[in-house]
Amino acid sequence: MYGDDIASVLISEDQIAEKIDEIADLVAKRYPAGAPEGDLLLVGVLKGAIFFMTDLAKRLQIPTQMEFMAVSSYGSSTSSSGVVRIMKDLDKDIAGRNVLIVEDIIDSGLTLSWLLRNLKSRNPASLEVVTLLRKPDALRTQVDVMHVGFDIPNEFVVGYGLDYAERYRDLPYIGTLDPKVYGGK
Ligand code: XMP
Ligand code: MG
Repeated sequence: MYGDDIASVLISEDQIAEKIDEIADLVAKRYPAGAPEGDLLLVGVLKGAIFFMTDLAKRLQIPTQMEFMAVSSYGSSTSSSGVVRIMKDLDKDIAGRNVLIVEDIIDSGLTLSWLLRNLKSRNPASLEVVTLLRKPDALRTQVDVMHVGFDIPNEFVVGYGLDYAERYRDLPYIGTLDPKVYGGK
């Protein structure tokens, strides 16, 4: 549907579904239903994590509640500076709750490490992260993540929520973008 903009399919729809089943099992084990902290609170980071968040919530066999945050990193569009601005904050107080941040991708890790510090200061009972993707070669700071779906090469990827200039989020798989799309060769 996007012509030949997508150079290759890195992770297929089936591979994503299988991985989410695995992650859902691990998460459900970590947060047994009926905990005194109440239902697990999934915090999705907009917009990239939307599909991962909803697919994960549907496969989890425990009750969850959902909140969303939107953050934007100052600096150039291709590299993160670690200075983050909240575009949309949580609607609810998270004090005393079990909070699981649901991320699309960890690149430098700077955005997430800022987010972890920010949410920690709100005194949740627990705070953990699951991310669908991580680029190990791009990491610039250590972040503790409960579970990583896929470690991928240090290439720009789109699809399954991830965009380039707001396009390609609707693809059901994760693919690499042909450099011609962003003006490369
Ligand atoms: P950092 O570098 O702080 O940034 O870990 C993570 C955020 O940067 C975006 N990002 C990408 N978005 N394809 C995308 O569509 C990519 O390959 C990519 N790498 C990083 C994303 O918003 C992520 O939350
Ligand atoms: Mg993101």
